[in-house]
Amino acid sequence: MTAGTAGTAGTAGSAADVAVAPGAGTAPATGFGWSPDELAAVGVGHWRELYTSADFAALEQARVFAPRWSLVASVEEIPPGHYLATTVAGVPVAIWRDPESGLRAFHNVCPHRGILLLQGCGPIGRFVTCPYHQWSFERDGSLARIPQPEQFPDADRAALALHPVAVAEWHGLVFACASGDPPDLAGQMALLEDRLARFLHAPLVEVARVDYTVECNWKLLVENHVDVYHLWYLHQRSLAAYRHTSFQWRWEGPTWWSYEPLSDPTSAPAGLGGLSDDDRSGIGAHLLFPNLMLVTTGDYLATYDARPDGPTRTGLTLRVRSAPDADADALVASIRSFLAEDVTACEAVQAATASPWYSVGPTARHHEEPVRMFHRLLRSDLLGHRADPQPDAVPVAGPGPATEPAGGWNR
Ligand code: FES
Ligand SMILES: [Fe+2]
Repeated sequence: MTAGTAGTAGTAGSAADVAVAPGAGTAPATGFGWSPDELAAVGVGHWRELYTSADFAALEQARVFAPRWSLVASVEEIPPGHYLATTVAGVPVAIWRDPESGLRAFHNVCPHRGILLLQGCGPIGRFVTCPYHQWSFERDGSLARIPQPEQFPDADRAALALHPVAVAEWHGLVFACASGDPPDLAGQMALLEDRLARFLHAPLVEVARVDYTVECNWKLLVENHVDVYHLWYLHQRSLAAYRHTSFQWRWEGPTWWSYEPLSDPTSAPAGLGGLSDDDRSGIGAHLLFPNLMLVTTGDYLATYDARPDGPTRTGLTLRVRSAPDADADALVASIRSFLAEDVTACEAVQAATASPWYSVGPTARHHEEPVRMFHRLLRSDLLGHRADPQPDAVPVAGPGPATEPAGGWNR
């Protein structure tokens, strides 16, 4: 699942341009509440372009990701005296932890000729030195030295500092915001802080981290994460231990939380210290809009953030936080049991966008309402709506089949 095993849609609408089925490609949008006018307002001519258009992906970066804080690392990934080069809302950013002053983040671009100042991760020295012509910078971002300074008699050294990026820690996770006017991080995280308090205040450490490249648009992974309907079917084996008929979810502002219990509560793990009985005997799936997905069980708090890498590829990093002596391999294996199924399905949806018949039909009243709500939030950002979107008035706990059905596309 790390690299694309399924085909991709290629460039926007390419297959449809070649072979347009009668009636296809001109039908009014039905997917997740987008109207044709709303699609047109964001430069989208057909629904599929939400998942295939480079222009639309750039609009999402500017209007959805850039104004928010993004998860970039765990604290364990940037120890004192180390750096990490990454991207935030598609923008190259370098983050380091100064042993004296703590986390610092800067736009990862040298003010001389614009090369990436740092790549990958590793230790930083006394100075941060550019590989191209060895301009060097203090760890506070100011310019320290220009080789052959007589070549630059008019250089305004104060103006040649690195450009700072907002960076902050939140319960062992590092967030950054490359916007010039970052919102309050605590405000962005407040609802998660409430819902996950027992996990966040437990002495957890990162016991595993796995990076995946998924050959699909980032939204397919998020839609899948908040889709209740597929639990009975795509995960009929991997999540069979949970009672989907008792699945509960709720949107609060940009935060979605959910919970479902184990069918057999006596099979609950001993679990992490400080958790409630419900925490130990069920699974929670949560989302901080737009792309931070979380899962909680009695054994761990896991995050997986979907970072768009163009319209048809997504970087997905699984981070598992648990007790220091946890069996990390076993925890990763248990998460992969359902995550691999999700990734396979999302890549298959992406491949289907190449079909001239690709569309989204009617969606489930309760079990796919979270997907529609995700798109309401997306439209709100993209179209600049002022009012906070609200979920449709559907029951918090929806009915489901009494028994787990057999079937699936591999049978
Ligand atoms: S590009 Fe960095 S020193 Fe020249
Ligand atoms: Fe799933």
